[in-house]
Amino acid sequence: MVKFRSYLWIEGVSLMGTKNYFDQVAREWDKMRESFFSEAVREKAFSIAGLQLGKIAADIGAGSGFMTEGLIRRGIQVIAVDQSEAMLAEMKKKFIGLQDVDYRVGEAEWLPISDETVDYVFANMFLHHVESPSAAIKEMVRILKPGGMMVITDLDEHSFVFLKTEHHDRWMGFKREEIKKWLEEAGLRNVRVDCVGENCCAESSCGSDYASISIFVASGEKIRL
Ligand SMILES: C[S@@+](CC[C@H](N)C(=O)[O-])C[C@H]1O[C@@H](n2cnc3c(N)ncnc32)[C@H](O)[C@@H]1O
Repeated sequence: MVKFRSYLWIEGVSLMGTKNYFDQVAREWDKMRESFFSEAVREKAFSIAGLQLGKIAADIGAGSGFMTEGLIRRGIQVIAVDQSEAMLAEMKKKFIGLQDVDYRVGEAEWLPISDETVDYVFANMFLHHVESPSAAIKEMVRILKPGGMMVITDLDEHSFVFLKTEHHDRWMGFKREEIKKWLEEAGLRNVRVDCVGENCCAESSCGSDYASISIFVASGEKIRL
């Protein structure tokens, strides 16, 4: 089992912001991600979206390009957004020479993408890091074309505090009914929240705590006016 460095918190307050945390771990992220969950997560998200060649997707909280990589392999153009320049720099190194990715530094609540631009929005393991998940969902729906699909993959509600202190998680997963409500309130229809069929696993670097948390996939289609 691989253990990754942890970061200091004092009385529940991190000494480092989320952006700084991801800037610091950017070079290790692919290895970390492989130890947490597998490619089955993105395969499930893509199958629900029903990807069509030549369409355009946004990968929000794209990190070093886990979702983006799968999308460009399927002939989808990607706008990859992340607040961490270091994560985006790692992705650029991997996809050097490819014209299919547009890299943009941006924040969850102010995405640097115009209204109704993309056919799909994906966000894998992003929502539990943002300050306001419902506001982030509304912002992702804003950039979706009418009839476009949003697919979010993230953690079910859990009780592993070390994920907050060591991995900078802001939320300890989510209740599925809450996610469904947020998607519907944001203007999506045919909203579904299901199991991915795989767990996210992590071991604490300063103890014997071991997390194994089920992953949900939430999807919905933007209402055509
Ligand atoms: C757990 S990583 C997941 C990365 C990638 N989606 C993957 O599956 O490997 C979360 C990503 O979300 C980004 N992020 C966290 N909070 C953000 C925010 N408020 N705005 C934009 N990006 C954010 C982080 O910089 C990080 O790259």
